[in-house]
Amino acid sequence: MDLIKYVERKNTDCAKWDGLKSTFSRGDLLAMWVADMDFKVPDCVSNALKDYIDMGAFGYYVPPSGYYDAFIEWERKYHGYEVKREWMRFAPGVVPAFNWLVQMLAGEGEAVAVMQPVYYPFMKAVENNGRRLVNCPLLLTETGYSMDYETFEEVLIRENVKAFIFSSPHNPVGRVWERDEIRRMLDICKRHNVFVISDEIHHDLIMSGHEHVPSATAGDTAGAYDDILVTLTAATKTFNLAAVQNSIVIIPDEKLRGVWDKFTEGIRITGGNSFGYVAVEAAYKEGRPWLEELLTVIEGNYNCLRRKLEAGLPDVRVADLEGTYLMWIDLSAYMDKIISDAAAAYSMDPDAEDAAVKAMQHLMEDECGIAADYGAWFGGNEYAGCIRLNLATRRENVEQAAKRIIAALKK
Ligand SMILES: Cc1ncc(COP(=O)(O)O)c(C=O)c1O
Repeated sequence: MDLIKYVERKNTDCAKWDGLKSTFSRGDLLAMWVADMDFKVPDCVSNALKDYIDMGAFGYYVPPSGYYDAFIEWERKYHGYEVKREWMRFAPGVVPAFNWLVQMLAGEGEAVAVMQPVYYPFMKAVENNGRRLVNCPLLLTETGYSMDYETFEEVLIRENVKAFIFSSPHNPVGRVWERDEIRRMLDICKRHNVFVISDEIHHDLIMSGHEHVPSATAGDTAGAYDDILVTLTAATKTFNLAAVQNSIVIIPDEKLRGVWDKFTEGIRITGGNSFGYVAVEAAYKEGRPWLEELLTVIEGNYNCLRRKLEAGLPDVRVADLEGTYLMWIDLSAYMDKIISDAAAAYSMDPDAEDAAVKAMQHLMEDECGIAADYGAWFGGNEYAGCIRLNLATRRENVEQAAKRIIAALKK
C-alpha cells in the first residue's frame, strides 16, 4: 500500500495550486477544486517517459499500435466493451472533443441538452458555439439523484434537441449510472434522433459495489445505439495525466466517423504529441495496481470527510460517492446563516439575487480558506448552497477541510 505518493505541487506551475488567483480572491487557499490529483503518476508512466526522453529525438511521430492495443485491452477487461481499432480517434482533451461534436451534431441555433447540475464546460460548449442550451435537471429524492425521463423526453420533443451531452459517471453528483438508467435515456434519444455525446472520462473511478456501464454496451444487442452515440474517454482522470492532453474518441458508426474525420481534417488536429501516447500506453498496460490502490485512498478520504461533516453539521447533505473523486456537498440547510454572516462581513444585501452565491464564496474563501468548485457553476443559483470538493489529495488536506467548514458554520 505505498503506490500512491503525495506530491507537493505548489510552485510546479499547476492550475490547481498555482492558478488559484485566476478564479479566487486569494492565492493561498487549500486547493480542492480543479479535478486532478495531488498524487504522482504510476512509476510505469514516469519510467516510460524517462526512457523516451533518454532516447532523445522528438521528431514527427506515429502513434504506436501498442497504444491502441493497451486501450482496447483495458476496455475489454475492465469495462466489457469490445472497441475496434478503427473506431478510435484522437482529441487533445475530452473538452475539445465535445466542443467539436456540438458543432458537428447540431447546427447554429439548434438545441443541445444537458442535465444539471453538471460539469460546467458542457454549458460553455453549447453557448460558446452558438447552439441553444436546454436543461433537463436531475431529480433529487431521498435516495439521491436520478434522471427525469418524462421531462427529458418532453424537452427533447418540445425543443427539437439535436444532441445530448451525458456525464457518466456523473460529475458533480457522483452517480455511476446503472444499465437500466442508461438504456432508458438512450432509448428516448434514439426515438427522437438525438445524438448522445457520452463523456465517460471518470469511467475508471468507480467505488466498491458499483460498476460502470459504457453507454455503448447498455443495449440488449451489441451496437444497439451506435448510430446515435459517440463515447469520449481518457486516461486523464484515472492516472492524473491531464497535462499530456491525450484523449480517446470512440465512434463505431461509419457515417458518424466520416463526420468526425471531415471536421478534424478541416482543423488539422488528427493526432497528439508523442509524450501523451507514451504515457497513456504505459498507464493502460501496467497501471492497474496503482489504480486499485488509488480507489481505496479516495474511498477512505470520502468516508473520512463525510463522517466528520455529518458529525459536526447534522443538517449537511452529502451525495453518495459511487464514482469520480469529487464530493458533492449540500450546505443549503445553513444558507440563512451563511448569508447573514456574509452580510455582516461585507455590506451585502441579503435579499440580492446572487446573495447566496456571494455568501458561499465568503464562507469558503474568507472563512474557511478553501478553494472549492461552487455549486452555482454547475447550473446556476439553484445550486448555490452546494460545493464540490476534490478528494484526490492527502488525508491531512481532507481533514483540514472538514475542520475548517465545521468551525466556520458552528461559529
Ligand atoms: C466530465 C468531465 N469531462 C471532461 C473533463 C476534462 O477533460 P479534458 O481535460 O480531457 O479536456 C473533466 C474534468 O474535470 C470532467 O469532469
